[in-house]
Amino acid sequence: MTQATVTTGPAARAVGAKKYYGEGDTEVRALDDVDVEFERGKFTAIMGPSGSGKSTLMHCQAGLDTLTGGQVFIGDTDLSALSERDLTLLRRDSVGFVFQAFNLVPTLSALENITLPMDLAGVTPDQEWLDEVITTVGLADRTNHRPNELSGGQQQRVAVSRALASRPEIIFADEPTGNLDSTTGTEILAFMKQAVDNLGQTIVMVTHDPLAAAYADRVIFLADGKVVDELLDPDVEQVLDQMKKLR
Ligand SMILES: Nc1ncnc2c1ncn2[C@@H]1O[C@H](COP(=O)(O)OP(=O)(O)OP(=O)(O)O)[C@@H](O)[C@H]1O
Ligand SMILES: [Mg+2]
Repeated sequence: MTQATVTTGPAARAVGAKKYYGEGDTEVRALDDVDVEFERGKFTAIMGPSGSGKSTLMHCQAGLDTLTGGQVFIGDTDLSALSERDLTLLRRDSVGFVFQAFNLVPTLSALENITLPMDLAGVTPDQEWLDEVITTVGLADRTNHRPNELSGGQQQRVAVSRALASRPEIIFADEPTGNLDSTTGTEILAFMKQAVDNLGQTIVMVTHDPLAAAYADRVIFLADGKVVDELLDPDVEQVLDQMKKLR
């Protein structure tokens, strides 16, 4: 059983997480002893200047990259203790991803794209849940369309639905609204927030956009590979102030 089944405690956490590149004078500490918890059923944004370690933290936390030292957990599973095969299964069963580029398969319909990861895993989708996700994202009348017949926002909604469909422990989103106009971006953010508030999903999102971060329940700020601050129930002004201090 590789799926993280724990339902208490944080959905994910890093303990003394270190990621170093290079050696000696050229050493870069992309993550410099990071301790952070991602609470279950919450929407967390990760912000910070370019090069502060946001993507590194997300990739290591999601099991897409390995640490130089320390530990990362999904539920109570220590990712460094897993074999390559078990890590692959955990990523498949417990983690959802949304990328800046929607990464949809052009020859498949919206519905086929949404169920693709489960089809590949040989898992039968929970039809009731699938219907709820598709209705919530407002795609009910678009499920038979191919990606090129959908707007950018609709395509990203397919990508978010795909991440939600298997009810993963946690969804990691890397600049999910980076390629969208502001109206469409707002739609996606509102939907992700709804997935957290109404469906109990846990989401961690990297963003540069204070407007996007304000949708989150909490914002953590990175600088030089360290967590330097956080805001709870942030508003745009507070996020902007915090970012000015970090520049
Ligand atoms: N493969 C690598 N080899 C060497 N250094 C790397 C590598 N990947 C990342 N780094 C360095 O690690 C640091 C953190 O990079 P990371 O991509 O996590 O930053 P980021 O906060 O996501 O920045 P951005 O906002 O520009 O996406 C940077 O100094 C970067 O140059
Ligand atoms: Mg990055």
